[in-house]
Amino acid sequence: MNVIRSEKLRVGMKLGENIYRDDQLVITSGVALTSRHIEMIKRLDIPEVKILEKKKLSFSNNIKYEEKYKEAVDSFKDICYGVTIGSLVLYDEVQECIEPLIQELEANPEMALRLWQMHTADFYTYEHSVKVSMLAVLLSKWLGKPKVYQEEIARVGLLHDIGKCNIPNDILNKPDVLTQEEFSVMKTHSTLGYVLLNSTKNLSKDVVKGVLHHHERYDGRGYPSKLSGENIPEYARIVSVVDIFDAMTSKRVYREKMNPFRVMEIMKNGSQGAIDPYIGTIFLDNLKSSYLGEKVLLSSGHIGTVHEIRTQMPERPVIRVEDNLIDLDKELHIEIKEMIL
Ligand SMILES: [Fe+2]
Repeated sequence: MNVIRSEKLRVGMKLGENIYRDDQLVITSGVALTSRHIEMIKRLDIPEVKILEKKKLSFSNNIKYEEKYKEAVDSFKDICYGVTIGSLVLYDEVQECIEPLIQELEANPEMALRLWQMHTADFYTYEHSVKVSMLAVLLSKWLGKPKVYQEEIARVGLLHDIGKCNIPNDILNKPDVLTQEEFSVMKTHSTLGYVLLNSTKNLSKDVVKGVLHHHERYDGRGYPSKLSGENIPEYARIVSVVDIFDAMTSKRVYREKMNPFRVMEIMKNGSQGAIDPYIGTIFLDNLKSSYLGEKVLLSSGHIGTVHEIRTQMPERPVIRVEDNLIDLDKELHIEIKEMIL
């Protein structure tokens, strides 16, 4: 815990104490400070406040997590290989895959967000499943869901695309836009997964239904059942938000990965009716707080930290480079090239 003078406070710093005005709690300990909070602290004439030290999360100092992630991807690859030769998915195998990562997420919840930097295009489906599983756990934490719920949704996330193990490789890995017939075959993967997982002992019906409905859209234009709004099981609505986020932030054979700020921009309007607006808003709001203070490399060659992300324009945040603020919404010729972890 650091004590920082009020004039040195910066947006994104995490408050380490409650702030009161006339005995009324006005800012809660643990929040990431906004410019409004800082203004309030100054107006209250509070000379200094306690700030939580920022844990620097990066793969270079979290080898354990990186190894667990790779092991999970390998284990999931084995499960998928089993499916292609006609084996059933065993509950214990699923647990072995996700349990170490869930434990790790307990200590470093936002580590799930750094996974977008890790990928090998060859293993997209396996890595995507592990990432979606971890992001779904993180989002359910943000939604205030209990531990049992988080464990269930980790299973939905891991298994959501298991039906793809039975989709022909030439369709699954086609580096081009699918024809209508090919897309119809691809769309069967959620039902194939449902049928397969119905035979997995100990897997709850809610998990299996979450898998079946992960491609339903909030506006009712999804598949396989064209369910809409809250008729879509909640597990499926949560997984669908992180599924879209991870798909866009991952490199694919046919396109480069997008940086998370660009993806936030695309997702901010509910991905054109695809996702539950409440769950989408909670995801994006927390995502914004998580990226405040992160290091980025700009196309100008400068390295800076994310100072402010506006709700209306998440794609073009304000970046602090030493003592200068660069507003990317005004400096349209500058882009974020990558995040530095
Ligand atoms: Fe899918």
